[in-house]
Amino acid sequence: MEKIIEENKQGQSLVLKQKDGNSKKLFIESYGCQMNFSDSEIVASILANEGYNTTQNLEEADLVLVNTCSIRDKAEQTVRKRLDQYNAIKKINPGMKVGVLGCMAERLKSKFLEEEKIVDMVVGPDAYKDLPNLLKEVDEGRDAINVILSKEETYGDIAPVRLNSNGVTAFVSITRGCDNMCTFCVVPFTRGRERSRDPQSIMEEITSLYEKGFKEVTLLGQNVDSYLWYGGGLKKDFEKASEMQKATAVDFAQLLDMVAKTFPKMRFRFSTSNPQDMHLEVIEVMAKHHNICKYIHLPVQSGSTRVLEAMNRQHTREEYMELVDNIYRIIPEISLSQDMIAGFPTETEEDHQDTLSLMEHCKYDFGFMFAYSERPGTLAARKLEDDIPAEVKNRRLTEIINLQQKMALERTQRFIGQTVEVLIEKESKRSNEHWSGRNSQNTMVVFPKEGNYKPGDFVNVKITDCTSATLIGDAVGYSEMQTV
Ligand code: SAH
Ligand code: F3S
Repeated sequence: MEKIIEENKQGQSLVLKQKDGNSKKLFIESYGCQMNFSDSEIVASILANEGYNTTQNLEEADLVLVNTCSIRDKAEQTVRKRLDQYNAIKKINPGMKVGVLGCMAERLKSKFLEEEKIVDMVVGPDAYKDLPNLLKEVDEGRDAINVILSKEETYGDIAPVRLNSNGVTAFVSITRGCDNMCTFCVVPFTRGRERSRDPQSIMEEITSLYEKGFKEVTLLGQNVDSYLWYGGGLKKDFEKASEMQKATAVDFAQLLDMVAKTFPKMRFRFSTSNPQDMHLEVIEVMAKHHNICKYIHLPVQSGSTRVLEAMNRQHTREEYMELVDNIYRIIPEISLSQDMIAGFPTETEEDHQDTLSLMEHCKYDFGFMFAYSERPGTLAARKLEDDIPAEVKNRRLTEIINLQQKMALERTQRFIGQTVEVLIEKESKRSNEHWSGRNSQNTMVVFPKEGNYKPGDFVNVKITDCTSATLIGDAVGYSEMQTV
């Protein structure tokens, strides 16, 4: 497929043109996790071969697709509101077709088609290659649905169309699905069983990004540390693999080592790490390579062993803290972030205090914190009453957020006086006289535009000041990562 990247005058945002001669217009929108944003790039690529180029203008779209999230009730409500807006436009433009993709499509299946005819097409996360057939059905006036989950699909053979890209950073999916069955989580039901993508196709995708000038890749999966390639098939079937397959299998530490070595002038990140699957080999590979960013997103959900067990998290409070201690020992400059759930069923005040004390111990740079939201069909919904009153959940959540904000400021302040390596991504949102990018630890850095620096350059920035989330400084020259 022909894909052309055109840089606009400021070298700021990139207009991605999918295919010459395409006349139909696709408006595609994503909610939820990074994986959804990455999947939408695969969908855009499949549809570019069906005559569709993307548009940013909803009113002119022939086809509107919304890639949806089911993780919390609020996420689903947001999508429902958006569907109402699409339908208002559809009344004026009846030719416009609307499709629901992703986790809500998988969870609600044909309910979408039955309910007041709000959509024409329902497509689950493993069925995007069926989009051309489904579109034909829609064109012939039938409702179209495919929510079959796959054991093999990784979309490894599809070259994603980079949407809304800054031309510098990109996501590359390495695993799909999740086998962990945390009792609160809908993902194993909406995204199916865990499978890993062929490392060769991962390398090819990164090569293509490198050739287009991209400088940073985030390897994506619900649980990247569980990555295991042995020639195809589900992670859970690895035991049944042949001796040859087992001997040549590639795990996450090996994959990370391979990408870092092969592309020394690119920077790598990964997300998400599940504590039970994160092994010291991965930390050691991170320590060995300058171009693997020193940042780990390590969700914990609760600081109480009793609650962790009820969540089926497969590790205790102490095991998690030991892992964190080991990470700080091997990579002292690391930054960590957490996901936390306040008010899981049966959570006591003491459990909540355990969460706060674990946070103090772990000294997270960032956090993503949520009130528990019961999800239909999950084990927690079936077995445990959602018994923590909303006021209590929200009060605990506020305490968690306040502590995180206090820690974030302290953590960010540690960079003052240091010189950090920054990959310039774009102009600062607040000022067109400043560049912005992130340091290795994933903290946003802003500095005045001086010299000839441009997006995609690696520069050293001397930090002079900060807010809780942003470092402020001055560029002092290119870094060793810069290609001349
Ligand atoms: N492994 C995944 C986790 C996806 S869900 C990843 O790649 O990030 C992201 C976060 O949403 C979880 O870590 C959890 O903190 C939160 N979450 C999941 N289910 C939830 C629920 N039912 N209620 C509240 N928060 C939830
Ligand atoms: Fe969900 Fe737990 Fe997997 S949070 S995505 S079931 S690791």
